[in-house]
Amino acid sequence: MPTPAIILDCDPGHDDAIAIVAAARYTNLLGITSVSGNAPIESTTYNALVMKDLLGLSVPVHKGAVRPLVAPPQYAAYVHGESGLDGADLPAPTSTIDSDDAVGFIIDTCRTTEGVWLVPTGPLTNIALALRLAPDLRDRIAGISLMGGGTFGNRTSAAEFNIWVDPEAADVVFNYGGPLIMAGLNLTHQFRATQPRIDRVRALTGQLASVLGDLMQFFMNMYVSRHNNMDGGAVHDPCSVLCLSHPELFTIRPSHVAVELTGTHTRGMTVVDQRDLKEVLDPNCDVLWTIQDEPAFDLLIDAIAHFSH
Ligand code: BDR
Ligand code: CA
Repeated sequence: MPTPAIILDCDPGHDDAIAIVAAARYTNLLGITSVSGNAPIESTTYNALVMKDLLGLSVPVHKGAVRPLVAPPQYAAYVHGESGLDGADLPAPTSTIDSDDAVGFIIDTCRTTEGVWLVPTGPLTNIALALRLAPDLRDRIAGISLMGGGTFGNRTSAAEFNIWVDPEAADVVFNYGGPLIMAGLNLTHQFRATQPRIDRVRALTGQLASVLGDLMQFFMNMYVSRHNNMDGGAVHDPCSVLCLSHPELFTIRPSHVAVELTGTHTRGMTVVDQRDLKEVLDPNCDVLWTIQDEPAFDLLIDAIAHFSH
């Protein structure tokens, strides 16, 4: 299978940081775009630059949307800390952003390079703006592989954080009409950074492993302390990368998925048609259903080791 060419659109974020490592190792990473989400845009952009330098990458980093399309900005300090990447001593980046026009970068790249995968692992603001400004992208890109949504919520009982932050943007993406893969919570909660797995990261030598070990520990501690029955941090965002580079590790269910925009209790919910009827709504999304978590984590270990000196 050819290596997928991707743009990673992210809001680092502990699991976004791991997604950057997976993307750098297993894809042709054309660029990183930042978005407001886990933390304000200045922080998520800074964190993307930190990861770029830690990995020694030469990919461009473009700063994106300051806030959601319609909804007020919301952040997730309760999981990621105020900086978006609390828990480790991060080396200050020497790289600087290549532009503050992530949307322009996405459009230009997809127009000049056919078959790009867009991989959003934060709120879908940048992707929705790109699709609105350049509807021709639908027929230029290979597809969109996103982390968000699922069959249950985390920010509310119905809504997952990335979709809940910018439901109007998510609605544009789920209706864009091209190939779409959803790594929702029902999938990503199967892939957890548990203590034994974090200890494997800590056993690696080098700066990246040391930083990621600390970040994963912080992330796991937040998850374990906030849940009744969770033995690790859900490693959400790398799933959207690995399902492109290693699809054999996943099963999918093609389904119709709609984004709830108006529900009193359900705004931001991804409504997955799971009815076992002959007459269901036409699928618009490959919903990731299962992951082989042990080999998937092995891939993360190999990727971290690869960049850790
Ligand atoms: C998603 O929200 C963020 O906190 C994570 O980075 C992930 O993208 C999980 O709901
Ligand atoms: Ca994220």
